[in-house]
Amino acid sequence: MHSVEPIKWKDEGVVMLDQRRLPTEVVYHTYRDYREVARAITEMVIRGAPAIGVAAAMGVALGVRQSKSESITDLGAELETICETFSKTRPTAVDLFWAIERMKGAFREAVRSAGGLDLAAVREAMVQEAKQVHAEKKAIDEAIGRFGAELMPESGEVMTQCNAGALATAGLGTALGVIRVATEQGRKLRVLVPETRPYLQGARLTAWELQQDGIPLTLITDNMVGHFLKTGKVGAIVVGADRIAANGDTANKIGTYPMAVLAKEHNVPFYVAAPVSTLDMTIASGEQIPIEERAATEVTHIQGVRIAPEVEVANPAFDVTPARLITAIITERGVARAPYGETLKAMAGVEKGVGSRG
Ligand code: MRU
Repeated sequence: MHSVEPIKWKDEGVVMLDQRRLPTEVVYHTYRDYREVARAITEMVIRGAPAIGVAAAMGVALGVRQSKSESITDLGAELETICETFSKTRPTAVDLFWAIERMKGAFREAVRSAGGLDLAAVREAMVQEAKQVHAEKKAIDEAIGRFGAELMPESGEVMTQCNAGALATAGLGTALGVIRVATEQGRKLRVLVPETRPYLQGARLTAWELQQDGIPLTLITDNMVGHFLKTGKVGAIVVGADRIAANGDTANKIGTYPMAVLAKEHNVPFYVAAPVSTLDMTIASGEQIPIEERAATEVTHIQGVRIAPEVEVANPAFDVTPARLITAIITERGVARAPYGETLKAMAGVEKGVGSRG
């Protein structure tokens, strides 16, 4: 299944497609220093929770590889600094912290099996682990896509929010992975794509990604969401997630919460598609999810052109949709439904195949 690749590990460094410049320019950058990778995450060269996780894993591997440390102790101390740098890039996407912990675990394991002596082997193991994280995303998205496709209508309109596609996961996409698999299975879907102000991930990225794959779409502005849900023609909504609390409350791109409220009003099923790495079982509810506040210029300007006077601005990048508005949460291990407190716990369990299906 074709889909765009936002990030790649190459011997010379981490190569990323610059998502800030899409759809007008397709530009790749090669990062040779882990601090550049961290900056690329903060500045949205790469974005979307799972892709941020892949970038962080590769960035940590790059940092360990470029380190001049000559002992495991020094390298371990440097790893802490590297991980600290990544942990400050974007606060809401829990995949970032998941990836950092995973790379720390890989380091411990590599040191143990190298007997604490072979630095080259430890460095190589970190690179392999980052590549593995990336490879897993593809398989995970395909599984999410298969579970989710069964929940899509046979034909007609579906709606999404932001960009939860290949650009956002480094795989098939979560929400768009569901739509891709459903389309491949022969469902005749048209995707309603809200532009997703202020950063326009819908207009710039989702519209571009779907167009590349020949999936029919209609671009709408954010304030058209209610109008289109009221028509009765939208068979389902499927969105991604940046962090899902233990009770199912879900943080996703700003605008997701009002979409879920409107979906309830108009009886449209509202699905969240996300990998298990997006579950944060350490927090009880969405109240505890940190919401990133981004620069005012994203609101006062569009593509560098000022559209508002110099006034006070709010720019929360995410909102939290309460679990009661979510019809089901689709992960690579199956489909969880309420009561999420129980089903997500099973989903987050170590064994594959747990959680309710369908
Ligand atoms: O600010 P962004 O572009 O990183 O926000 C992205 C989203 O909100 C996505 O819906 C979410 O990360 C899921 S991506 C599969």
